[in-house]
Amino acid sequence: MLTKQYITELKHKGNGDISALINSQRDVRTINFILESLGHLPENFNPDFLYDLLHHNHSQVRLNAVKNIGKLNGKGDTRSLYNLYKNETDTSVRREIVSSIGRQRKSTNKPMLVDFLQDEDPKIICQAIRGLLVFEKDNEVEKSLRPLINHPNEMVRTIIYKEYYSKENKDKNVLPHTQTYDFLKNVVVNADVLEALKVAPDESVHLTFTSPPYYNARDYSIYPSYQAYLEFLEKVFIETHRITKEGRFLIVNTSPIIIPRISRSHSSKRYGIPFDLHPYLVKNGWEFIDDIVWLKPEASVKNRIGGFMQHRKPLSYKPNSITEYLMVYRKSTEKLLDWNIRSYDYETVKTSRVADGYETTNVWKIDPCFNKVHSAVFPVELCRRVIQYYSYKGDLVFDPFGGSGTVGETAKLLDRLFFLTEKENKYFEYMKFKNKNQTLFDDIKTQFLTLEQFKKEAKK
Ligand SMILES: C[S@@+](CC[C@H](N)C(=O)[O-])C[C@H]1O[C@@H](n2cnc3c(N)ncnc32)[C@H](O)[C@@H]1O
Repeated sequence: MLTKQYITELKHKGNGDISALINSQRDVRTINFILESLGHLPENFNPDFLYDLLHHNHSQVRLNAVKNIGKLNGKGDTRSLYNLYKNETDTSVRREIVSSIGRQRKSTNKPMLVDFLQDEDPKIICQAIRGLLVFEKDNEVEKSLRPLINHPNEMVRTIIYKEYYSKENKDKNVLPHTQTYDFLKNVVVNADVLEALKVAPDESVHLTFTSPPYYNARDYSIYPSYQAYLEFLEKVFIETHRITKEGRFLIVNTSPIIIPRISRSHSSKRYGIPFDLHPYLVKNGWEFIDDIVWLKPEASVKNRIGGFMQHRKPLSYKPNSITEYLMVYRKSTEKLLDWNIRSYDYETVKTSRVADGYETTNVWKIDPCFNKVHSAVFPVELCRRVIQYYSYKGDLVFDPFGGSGTVGETAKLLDRLFFLTEKENKYFEYMKFKNKNQTLFDDIKTQFLTLEQFKKEAKK
């Protein structure tokens, strides 16, 4: 039986032996086994048979032949690979050819790599870019790559941005990553969020966790249309993006809602808020990271299945909605998370470490919270998890739709700072009241400000 060890021995014996072995095989699986067992190729290895295999009618054999030619350390005949690329229809083989040519790091291969930039397959373009970036400070290479900043594919644009444009945009005058402005620390502003954010500086908050109004489903918010509602939220999250520090997170809690029918002859209408909002966020520089499902007990939600239970007629099935979404986004950046984490000192990293018992899945089972004053308050446990998993001690946590202030309250408990905006006077007064009772915001530094007062503080 053919073994890896036998193949290795033949490989080191020198020219011809492997070639003869392959030529004696009819079975494609055995040919692939031999090619996949070759490993590192010695100096005296004769690769001629590999070029013959580029014409094999089985794509896996061609792929393995290309891979082995790629190991020839610049001694391979790139022309044959390039010719194969021109006629090859198998995606994996085409990608491997580009990677093989790129790995050779030969400047004579540059025209081929530039040619690959025209390919329709974004992976091939990315491989070609990788191959070209090896030639640092090469004007010709830069001239071919820079225009790809307008390429339709997002991965291609991201690589080009990182290589050529991000450094150019680094003249911004922002505070060091872990720091923020004093006038934003532990502040609640009674104002429309868009008005308040006009005076908030770029890159000043570390985390935003919020639950926006539920379109027109609750009394505190009325919008002329669903489109107008989405466009309002778009503006809020564009501004939130501006004031968010590089590479930091936004977590938006929403769920589909239902607007009841106006009479029995009309139907109610359901709006998929998380799904409709998502494209607006991604379009404006929020990178999608995760979808977390908040799971509630069935007894705590509105009963919609009652009618169906009686008659069981298909099409009228309406399950009880026991979930909401926590959509997790990161402010797009070419920096890795490690860069964010390394901004903190040893002590902060140590004391912010998440303790045992953290949630390991994206389904969070948490009981909802009911409140006499506000109809949609966050459970503290929900805030606790988000703040602990997505911020460090001393960070500034923002909630544009402050409500009863749960985000502020929990941020405080977890040694973070908070900045809230809340439009409705009654909820603002409620937060103030809770603060008086020392059950919330028990820190003397907490400030409850009107828009005018906030603007004055910002100017100081
Ligand atoms: C779903 S509630 C948030 C509840 C909050 N998460 C809590 O734990 O209490 C949304 C809040 O946004 C407020 N709001 C609506 N439009 C606003 C705006 N333009 N600016 C600031 N707050 C607004 C509403 O008054 C409401 O209190």
